[in-house]
Amino acid sequence: MDILAIEQAYRRYARVYDVCFGAVFQPGRRAIVERMGCSAGERILEVVVGTGLSLPLYPQDVRVVGIDISRPMLEHARVRLARDGIDSLAQLMVMDAENMAFADDSFDKVVAMYVASVVPDPGRLVDEMRRVCKPGGQIFMVNHFHSRNPILGSVESLLAPLSRHLGFRPDFSLDRFLDQTGLDALNICPVNLFDFSTMVEARNNKRGAAAIPAPAFTPT
Ligand SMILES: C[S@@+](CC[C@H](N)C(=O)[O-])C[C@H]1O[C@@H](n2cnc3c(N)ncnc32)[C@H](O)[C@@H]1O
Repeated sequence: MDILAIEQAYRRYARVYDVCFGAVFQPGRRAIVERMGCSAGERILEVVVGTGLSLPLYPQDVRVVGIDISRPMLEHARVRLARDGIDSLAQLMVMDAENMAFADDSFDKVVAMYVASVVPDPGRLVDEMRRVCKPGGQIFMVNHFHSRNPILGSVESLLAPLSRHLGFRPDFSLDRFLDQTGLDALNICPVNLFDFSTMVEARNNKRGAAAIPAPAFTPT
């Protein structure tokens, strides 16, 4: 997976993205925005906002900044904001999530939906999310991780060599992700139909902060 392959994949997906990945993954987006418990005036960063399917779910009194590397995906997000009359809710920017242009400690909460298995370097992504999130702020992620169901898991492993063309890694494991990122997970729970995806809520453990052990993940 490299950034060029990702841009190409999502240039192809942009037009059909909402039909293929909209409704089916919307319960996960809704669950995570509810879990974020946003308060009036909070500054939220949505890393990799895509076509902006989550944007109408935020309360109107927060300020959201949404970034993505794909202009065609962001164009759909712009159309959505205008169509729903919520332009003032969010500011959209073309930016690499692994090299963000924001200053340290810029946001109260940072969220990434369905992206951990897409970016070239998930460790780097989470480091950047930590950096731009205020100390004591919160980091939220929702993603599909490699299934523990033996049949589905085998299919995902078989698809792994096609990651470059698919635009995501189907065999991306939650344990490896938590290991690689050192995320200080406070809550991990399944979301979406058949518990297909997993939501992770974490404290912003900036370097040097004492880690709280992650709760055991219950396979579903
Ligand atoms: C599966 S989509 C998820 C979009 C959205 N979060 C959602 O809930 O539908 C993955 C998105 O990641 C973006 N992306 C992948 N790597 C990126 C990076 N390094 N920086 C910014 N965007 C990236 C792609 O352009 C695409 O829009």
